[in-house]
Amino acid sequence: MQMTSTKYYNTIAKEYDNHYNNGPFWNIYNEVTWHYLKNYLPKDKENSLILDAGGGTGIWSIRIAKEGYNVILTDISNGMLDIARQKIKNENLESKINIINADITNLNAFKNENFELSLAEGDPVSYCSNPQKAIAELSRVTKANGHITVSVDNKLHWASKFIKLGEIEKADEVLEKEISHMQTGVGNETYPAHMFTIEKLSDLFMQNKIEPVKSVGKPVFITPSDDLEDETVFNNSLALEIKYSSLPSVVGAGGHIALIGKKIK
Ligand SMILES: C[S@@+](CC[C@H](N)C(=O)[O-])C[C@H]1O[C@@H](n2cnc3c(N)ncnc32)[C@H](O)[C@@H]1O
Repeated sequence: MQMTSTKYYNTIAKEYDNHYNNGPFWNIYNEVTWHYLKNYLPKDKENSLILDAGGGTGIWSIRIAKEGYNVILTDISNGMLDIARQKIKNENLESKINIINADITNLNAFKNENFELSLAEGDPVSYCSNPQKAIAELSRVTKANGHITVSVDNKLHWASKFIKLGEIEKADEVLEKEISHMQTGVGNETYPAHMFTIEKLSDLFMQNKIEPVKSVGKPVFITPSDDLEDETVFNNSLALEIKYSSLPSVVGAGGHIALIGKKIK
C-alpha cells in the first residue's frame, strides 16, 4: 500500500523528534549537519533572512534563530508545523521564526532573491513530487552569492542496504529507477522517494545557477544499529565523521548526501 509522504509525516509528527532528533546516531548526524551549515550562515544577523524549506518540526529553524537570525520555516505537513509552532512558542522564538505551509516545488509565497541562505535538510527534495522544480525554486528565492544546502537520500547507500538483506529486486529498483518506495514503519505502507547520486544532485544544482561548493556524506561510518552510547565512542565517532565526511572519495558512502552550493549571479 502506498501513502504520500505528507500523510506519513502528519501521522508520525508527534513522535518525529523522539525518533529522528534523539539518541546518539541522530545526535551525530545533526552535529555533522551543524558543523557544515554554520559556516554558511550570513555575517549580518540583523538584516538577513533564512529559509528552512521542508523544515518539519523546526530543529534547524530553532537552532539558527537562537543564533540571532530571522527564519521562515515552511513545510507541506500541517502536523509537523503544529509541533514546530509549539516548540517555537516554548523557546520564546515567535518573533524570530515565521511559519508558512508551502510545497517546496512551489515557493510562490516568496519573491525572487528573498533569502541569504536556503536550507532543504532531511530529504524534502527526495520526498517532493518534482526535485527539479524544488531546486529551481530554492535557487530562485535565494540571493546571488547566497548559499543553498540540500540533503537527500543516497541511491548507492539504499541499494547496498537491500543487497545485504538479500533483496536484490529492491536494490535493482533503487539503482535503475528514479523513484523508490520507502517502507514507513506504519503498517505495510510505503511512500515514494527520489534517490540521488552526488553527480545527479550536482547536475541539478548547475542547471539552476547553483555552484556546488561542498558535498558531505551523512553519516559515512556509523549506522543506526551501532552502540554509540558510551561518551568516548560517541565523541570519537563524531570526530571521525567530521574529519572524513566531506572527502570526495567518502561522500558516496553516506546514508544521505548533502550538497551545499552558492547561487551564481
Ligand atoms: C525527514 S523530515 C525533515 C524535517 C527537517 N528538515 C529536519 O531536518 O528535521 C522531511 C520533511 O520534508 C517535508 N516534505 C515532504 N515533502 C515536502 C514538500 N513537497 N514540500 C515541503 N516539505 C515537504 C515533510 O513534511 C517532512 O517534514
